[in-house]
Amino acid sequence: MSWFKIFSRKSKASHSAASVAPSVSAAATNAPLVVAPEVSAAADPLVENALPKIAIITGASRPGSVNKSVAEWVLAQVADRTDADVELVDIADFNLPLLDEAYPAAYQNYQNPATKAWSARVSEFDGFIFVVHEYNHTAGPVLTNALSYLNAEFNNKAAGFVSYGSAGGARAVEHLREILSELQVAHVRNQVMFSLFNDFENFSEFKPTEQNAGTLAPMVDQLVSWAKGFATIR
Ligand SMILES: Cc1cc2nc3c(=O)[nH]c(=O)nc-3n(C[C@H](O)[C@H](O)[C@H](O)COP(=O)(O)O)c2cc1C
Repeated sequence: MSWFKIFSRKSKASHSAASVAPSVSAAATNAPLVVAPEVSAAADPLVENALPKIAIITGASRPGSVNKSVAEWVLAQVADRTDADVELVDIADFNLPLLDEAYPAAYQNYQNPATKAWSARVSEFDGFIFVVHEYNHTAGPVLTNALSYLNAEFNNKAAGFVSYGSAGGARAVEHLREILSELQVAHVRNQVMFSLFNDFENFSEFKPTEQNAGTLAPMVDQLVSWAKGFATIR
């Protein structure tokens, strides 16, 4: 019996019927995990020339983090693109606590205002640029915690990465790719990696080298094309 079905049974035993999401008999089969993806598609592919909406999502909330300065640089670089609408979404604005929802995200039975606000914001977009730092050879907990809150809001969308660390944040992004695969996010191959030694002054002021800065546009090209493509299957 899968963990999901076990959770479903326990939930039914301890909560009133009205507060419990639909049961998931399909969980024992190969049916998709998501139960009721009542999430509005961001761009309507039937609307001619609809631009894909891309969110640059920050991945940190600690005071002094360089994360937002990198995200703001990304936004400035892509601002004049005519093939996508790009916005910065700062995770810190949502004040998400450590995951505190009673039900797995697949139920979409959100209880908390912060979760509902985060869900509504993510639902607006067709694709994501995650700005990723590396903590202990993996992606930082603020971002992975925020990803755990949602599911359908990310499904069949596209993502790319801008990472930084002593090894360019490469190990963090490899782990993030596994998480995003489970959320059915298509992550593009090209990756932007900034070195704490070469792309930051005193490890704190973001001053990207020309060579690494030049890797952003090809990554965003791949992302925009996949963001458009996946809108047709949602
Ligand atoms: C708890 C912690 C663990 C870290 N582990 C790594 C690591 O494994 N690899 C790495 O390249 N940098 C590591 N760093 C250094 C960070 O990449 C660097 O401090 C970076 O500026 C952090 O990003 P932030 O400013 O967004 O917090 C670590 C930093 C912290 C605070």
